Amino acid sequence: MSGARRDILVTSALPYANGSIHIGHLVEYIQTDIWVRFQRLRGHQCTYVCASDAHGTPIMLKARELGISPEELVEHYREEHQRDFAAFLVDFDNYHSTHSPENQRLVEAIYARLDAGGHIVRRVIRQAYDEQAGMFLPDRFVRGNCPHCGAEDQYGDSCEVCSRTYSPSELRNPRSVISGTPPVERESEHYFFRLGDFEASLREWTRSGVVDAGVARKLDEWFEAGLQDWDISRDAPYFGFRIPGTEDKYFYVWLDAPIGYIASLENLAQRSGGPGAEAYFGAESAAELYHFIGKDIAYFHTLFWPAVLEGSGHRKPSGVFVHGFLTVNGQKMSKSRGTFVSAATYLEHLPPEFLRYYYACKLGPGLEDIDLNLEDFVSRTNADLVGKFVNIASRCAGFIQRGFDGELAVELEDPELYAEFSAAAEPIAALYEAREYGKAMREIMALADRANQYIDAHKPWLMVKDPAQADRVQAVCTQGLNLFRALLTYLKPVLPATARAAEAFLGGEALAWSSVERPLLGRRIDAFRPLLRRIEMRAVERMIEASKAPAAGETEAAAPEEISIDEFLRSDLVVAEVQAAEQVPGADKLLKLTLDLGGERRTVFAGIRAAYAPESLVGRLVVVVANLKPRKMRFGTSEGMVLAAGNGEQDVFLISPDSGAKPGMRVR
Ligand code: MSP
Ligand code: ZN
Repeated sequence: MSGARRDILVTSALPYANGSIHIGHLVEYIQTDIWVRFQRLRGHQCTYVCASDAHGTPIMLKARELGISPEELVEHYREEHQRDFAAFLVDFDNYHSTHSPENQRLVEAIYARLDAGGHIVRRVIRQAYDEQAGMFLPDRFVRGNCPHCGAEDQYGDSCEVCSRTYSPSELRNPRSVISGTPPVERESEHYFFRLGDFEASLREWTRSGVVDAGVARKLDEWFEAGLQDWDISRDAPYFGFRIPGTEDKYFYVWLDAPIGYIASLENLAQRSGGPGAEAYFGAESAAELYHFIGKDIAYFHTLFWPAVLEGSGHRKPSGVFVHGFLTVNGQKMSKSRGTFVSAATYLEHLPPEFLRYYYACKLGPGLEDIDLNLEDFVSRTNADLVGKFVNIASRCAGFIQRGFDGELAVELEDPELYAEFSAAAEPIAALYEAREYGKAMREIMALADRANQYIDAHKPWLMVKDPAQADRVQAVCTQGLNLFRALLTYLKPVLPATARAAEAFLGGEALAWSSVERPLLGRRIDAFRPLLRRIEMRAVERMIEASKAPAAGETEAAAPEEISIDEFLRSDLVVAEVQAAEQVPGADKLLKLTLDLGGERRTVFAGIRAAYAPESLVGRLVVVVANLKPRKMRFGTSEGMVLAAGNGEQDVFLISPDSGAKPGMRVR
């Protein structure tokens, strides 16, 4: 360990508990986890807390739609998220919820102090109100035509076509997303936090090195634009904490969400007896406090949050680390392209550490977006992890095992080379510390190249055959394994599961950052088992296929618009018999059907694989849209469509005519 033992609290943003974790979120949780694991390896005290973000209108409405309580919805996702994060080896000390007694107590206490300090003002505002649903509408719940460019069906706060912002009252032809009725304007008293009271100290804080240069520039723009009062109340019905002393006003979700960081810590302290809120958030706290977040929520964490902390007598964060957004193959994640991949779907097809490593290669301290290029992902992770890193161990371990009964030599064959590897510990640590993971990975892989060159130069596989050199094989392979052990230590924050498996094979010692100072000599090691296996592009393709949103028509969509009988009669519906059915390699959802339409043969690809075994379909009658334009697919051309009811997933029910119908009959 270098220097004094640091005392650090780290957080990642609290995921909304109304949807699944996806590979975009994972950028953040993997980035944070690597940093936390690195600090712990260095011997520092580093606590990592997170929680579900439970409150707000979208969660309330989604629970309503599902006919469950918001608490049940939140608990469902909290459990799912914890499972996903654990599978990606994200090692929280605690995963709490903002809908918790700890958080309610803290929010009320903080609000009371802000109010007592004169930082809360009450003001009547006019807001869109849905009379049918009986509720005020957040901006995003009003849609209509953009007042600037006229684009249809835009959100109440901004236009996706011309990017301009406005208020919902300016929308033309506005409708409530909830009831579809035009909203009216209603007055209501709201509570505001006077952000401007903190301008001077916020300016000073942001210039003290707590944020990266890119974020500091953003902040300057925001200061330039002026700090507005922040509306922290919402009217009932709302899922959140009621404001004490009111009947029907609630704290806005974004007030209580970051306070959830403290609540999670408090909850941990109660259960573990460790230090709690005061130790990390108290005005006198000397501990380090870091928040990892995405760029979309920087305003909340670099302005509102430090101001709320200061106004309520707490300390401000030591750093707010802001990352960019994930793109896949250079484009925004998209359901129709199948790049909106959930954590669970990824795990069905690929091992988590490959994504951890790839993100590490791409991550730096800045807020640039990071791209997951799928081809590059496969080739780079295979080349680096399997081809370079694991290869070093697999090239050396067998010789030690077979020729020397698992016993390592008592001396290094090339102490100077080893010294180069151990001298890299500090520079690599500095890169991790600065969140320069991409640079750290490059340093480590350059060392891996050196280790492989060493083995190539000595060629233990030839040495064993030469009686004059056979006794040096043990020394060379001991050297190789020690180089591997150094790299393993440096990669341990990124590859914790591989590290554990390799530690077991190297005799069981749990590696710390300083372990590299002493090579492993004169010890027995276990038999080597492959640590990581190559991944295949096919697995990535299957993952993308499985992530594709069901095509239009496969979902139980809202009632479509009316058509005339003539329009309906334009579709040629024909009875057909299934002659053959087979699976399509690489397509999880499809079966390839060969159909007889009464003398005419057609090939049709149908998304029914989850519901039907191919052999069960042969001989069955189905209904085909026979005049559908042939559709070129990756696997061949589909010359029609078979009719089925259901959602296109497990629930698929083929439509079949009664017995007596013959292939080729028209359906009307
Ligand atoms: N609930 C708020 C955070 C409250 S913190 C007190 C929230 N939740 S979120 O689920 O939408 O996002 C959680 C984190 O994931 C955020 O930091 C967000 O920036 C990050 N990401 C969500 N989608 C992302 C990408 N596509 N790419 C990278 N990070 C992304 O915001
Ligand atoms: Zn517009």
